Amino acid sequence: DGPFTVAIDGPAAAGKGTVSRALAERFGMAHLDTGLLYRAVAAQALAGADPVAAATSLMMAELERADLRTPEVAQEASRVAADPEVRRALVGFQRRIARQAGGAVLDGRDICTVIAPEAEVKLFVTASAERRAERRFEELRARGVETTLEEVVGDVRARDERDARRRDAPMVRAEDAEVVDTTAMTIEEAVEAASGFVERAL
Ligand code: C5P
Repeated sequence: DGPFTVAIDGPAAAGKGTVSRALAERFGMAHLDTGLLYRAVAAQALAGADPVAAATSLMMAELERADLRTPEVAQEASRVAADPEVRRALVGFQRRIARQAGGAVLDGRDICTVIAPEAEVKLFVTASAERRAERRFEELRARGVETTLEEVVGDVRARDERDARRRDAPMVRAEDAEVVDTTAMTIEEAVEAASGFVERAL
């Protein structure tokens, strides 16, 4: 019942969120979608707040705001996430969740590399840019967000580039992270593949 960390990184809309939630449910662990932290800071920055101040005083309740899942907030998230001071303000909270009793699944961009390099399971969940954009487009449309496939392709590409190129904690596959490529997988297959890695480490 001690700490057991499943660290999941990968580009936008690769299926990290779905896989993480399913793993947390299946293995009875906590789950933290760390992208929400950056999105919550971004939402406050878009409302005029200073991003570092917003990150320093971030409250859990702010992660539940319904408007964090918009393309506009996503773009701003990848901008505020490039600021090392914003990132530093969010490290402690993420590490506490990662090492809590009972285990935790964390997904983001720097979980295997920076937040929890000691994690028992490290995965890099990815998919082709086309598949990722299609999935995000369907997801947004299902939620009634007005957008086009071209817009989503542009959003995903811009964020991936910014996230991969920033100097502090860039998105990269950790050397010891297992790759789960979900391009040709159903949700169930992706969850099964990821579960296999957790079961072998338990
Ligand atoms: O995962 P999600 O798409 O919600 O993340 C939004 C943005 O937050 C990413 O594009 C990235 O810039 C940033 N992020 C990050 N590090 C994390 C999680 C998210 O820089 N661990």
